[in-house]
Amino acid sequence: MKTERILVWDLPTRLFHWLLAGTFAAAWLTADSERWIDVHVMLGYTFAGLIAFRLVWGFVGTRYARFSSFVSGPGAVMRYFKSILTLQPEHHVGHNPAGGWAVLALLGLGAVTALSGYATYDDYGGHWLEELHEGAASAMLALVFVHIGAVLISSFIHRENLARAMVTGLKHGIASEAIRRPRWIAAGALVVAVVGFWSGAFQ
Ligand code: HEM
Repeated sequence: MKTERILVWDLPTRLFHWLLAGTFAAAWLTADSERWIDVHVMLGYTFAGLIAFRLVWGFVGTRYARFSSFVSGPGAVMRYFKSILTLQPEHHVGHNPAGGWAVLALLGLGAVTALSGYATYDDYGGHWLEELHEGAASAMLALVFVHIGAVLISSFIHRENLARAMVTGLKHGIASEAIRRPRWIAAGALVVAVVGFWSGAFQ
């Protein structure tokens, strides 16, 4: 079957991804300084808002952004790893079965990090919440490194630059597998919400 470059990741998913990566990196860099605490908290709220957005988009977004398209059982994950070990890697247009679970883990850990950060900042509980916040953030950082490693390895195995695909939205596939619209309006609403929140936070 003839393959070409088709639209797989809608614009809101791509924007979400790079905003999440950027806010996580910036929040990490501002975490240990009293001077930057307001910026850290503002980034934490943005991060939490992005995760909330992605949870909703996982139900109403385009085909490959939906949880139903990439959350699969352990059998599918095992088959995927086996296909790699036997040098006949299964190709998935969206997230592969292992990647699907990594997405859920990143979102779940991200939610724990953001909620425990909020509870610590608002003095909801004891020292354990702060410990939880730091532990979850460190686990998230470790997972991000695994994630980046996995992206590099899959890009090599599948001979496709997956990081670039997260920027352009385009991957190899057959025309009938493409999503139809990039979803500009939802992407615009996401940008307005983030920029609006930031400009309000700095007033
Ligand atoms: C240079 C850094 C990074 C690169 C190159 C990168 C690349 C990618 C790529 C290529 C995918 C799609 C994987 C696939 O094809 O199945 C992806 C998905 C994802 N990445 Fe990253 N990533 C980076 C950093 C991060 C960071 C720092 C986070 C979290 C804080 C993150 C969280 C996610 C999530 C949640 C998804 C799922 C996207 C979705 O379906 O909404 N990534 N990333």
